[in-house]
Amino acid sequence: LQKSWPRKEGSLFSTGRSSTFTINCSGFDKYGVDPAVFQTIFNQKDFRPVINYSIPTQVNISFILSAILEVDEQLQLLTSFLWLKLVWNNPFISWDPEECGAISKLTVTTENLWLPDIFIVESMDVDQTPEGLSAYVTSDGHIVYNKPMRVTSICSLDIFYFPFDQQNCTLTFSSFLYTVENMLLGMAKEVWEIADTSRDIVRTEGEWELLGITKATPKMSVGSSLFDQIMFYVAIRRRPNLYIINLLVPSSFLIAIDALSFYLPAESENRAPFKITLLLGYNVFLLMMNKLLPASGTPLISVYFALCLSLMVVSLLETIFITYLLHLATTRPPAMPRWLHSLLLSWASPRTCCPTKLWKENMGPGLTPPHLPGPKDPGQLVGKELAPREAELSGDSGLTSTQLAGLWVQFSHMMDTFLFRLYLLFLASSIIVVIVLWNT
Ligand SMILES: *[C@@H]1O[C@H](CO)[C@@H](O)[C@H](O)[C@H]1NC(C)=O
Ligand SMILES: *[C@@H]1O[C@H](CO)[C@@H](O)[C@H](O)[C@H]1NC(C)=O
Ligand SMILES: *[C@@H]1O[C@H](CO)[C@@H](O)[C@H](O)[C@H]1NC(C)=O
Ligand SMILES: *[C@@H]1O[C@H](CO)[C@@H](O)[C@H](O)[C@H]1NC(C)=O
Repeated sequence: LQKSWPRKEGSLFSTGRSSTFTINCSGFDKYGVDPAVFQTIFNQKDFRPVINYSIPTQVNISFILSAILEVDEQLQLLTSFLWLKLVWNNPFISWDPEECGAISKLTVTTENLWLPDIFIVESMDVDQTPEGLSAYVTSDGHIVYNKPMRVTSICSLDIFYFPFDQQNCTLTFSSFLYTVENMLLGMAKEVWEIADTSRDIVRTEGEWELLGITKATPKMSVGSSLFDQIMFYVAIRRRPNLYIINLLVPSSFLIAIDALSFYLPAESENRAPFKITLLLGYNVFLLMMNKLLPASGTPLISVYFALCLSLMVVSLLETIFITYLLHLATTRPPAMPRWLHSLLLSWASPRTCCPTKLWKENMGPGLTPPHLPGPKDPGQLVGKELAPREAELSGDSGLTSTQLAGLWVQFSHMMDTFLFRLYLLFLASSIIVVIVLWNT
């Protein structure tokens, strides 16, 4: 077996047949590898290993995404962990494995080899590759280099759909230095293989789930130079369970209780304090859960929370308004416009609308607090309070003030029911809108 390395510098790159650069591997199986036979290759590590410099080096890339460590919405960074694999050819390395006890591949420390300067364009951190890694060198000059990488890459994160969001981050592999004339990039594995392996490996039950990886290979031009690059699109999805349980469920309960509190009779003194307590509780909930929300941007969930809060405030205002109306009706009822009177009369037929009435039916007549006038018997009860003025005629409508008070009470209940239905309508439609937006 001949080790016929061209000794003279002038003939180094002009002697073009790779069979000329055969390593004498006799004794590899008996005495171990003789470092002297590799020395010429090691000495050449500063230069791109090609025989004809007009031929670009083909570097094939693949990687395994082994963990998604962190997604920082505020800094717009994705931190992931990769096992990067680079494969290229060194035409100066070749030996005949049959001559050397079937040794077909060896490991060589990477300090002694030329390495392609592949980097990730989006990376926002210096490459922290551990020192002293080795690469496999095969008898036909293939070099396979694996290295672990912790990649902090910039990624445009859209948190509008939080916590049901998906992100699409790009990892672009490119050479720092070599243009297309000197280096071409290829795939060492099919992209679906990379995606499948990564999905199996990413076993972490963390917040993020790997959906898939796709690739594109546009060339990048910087000035007059053209660089080869491979872009991988990493699609990840947030696991929303934590947020559903901690944010959406309690919030929905509170808003449901707020809606149900309309069934507390408007005349009782309990409704307003109850709603205030609820509002207070909701504020405490928001304060405590604020740290679960993304630190920047306005996700839909924040809009939803703001909506719930405003609904609670509006329902409190409604209660104050109805309480005021009832108070007005029972103390000094103002004259009633004719149109309102006729409207009330046209609605006077038995109704089943009023929440207060429903509540009363449920509680049974015996439990009805005696000081609360119901919609059916407002006249008698209010009449007692208004006894001194009972005989007075109010306005030109010819109604006694008792009747007038009764009408106002009836009007208050109608308003209560009407506003409650409006509230429900608004609540339902906004919830539907939010759900539809989340599903798109
Ligand atoms: C290979 O090297 C061994 C000693 O290391 C030497 O004896 C042998 O002659 C060499 N073979 C060739 C073909 O140069
Ligand atoms: C080097 O490669 C170029 C392009 O493939 C070719 O034109 C040229 O003849 C080659 N040079 C030698 C010395 O083989
Ligand atoms: C790189 O991949 C291409 C096409 O997949 C293949 O033709 C070539 O031999 C590979 N090169 C190396 C060094 O593996
Ligand atoms: C990610 O974005 C790229 C380009 O914007 C697109 O080609 C690719 O299909 C997207 N991937 C997913 C899973 O949405």
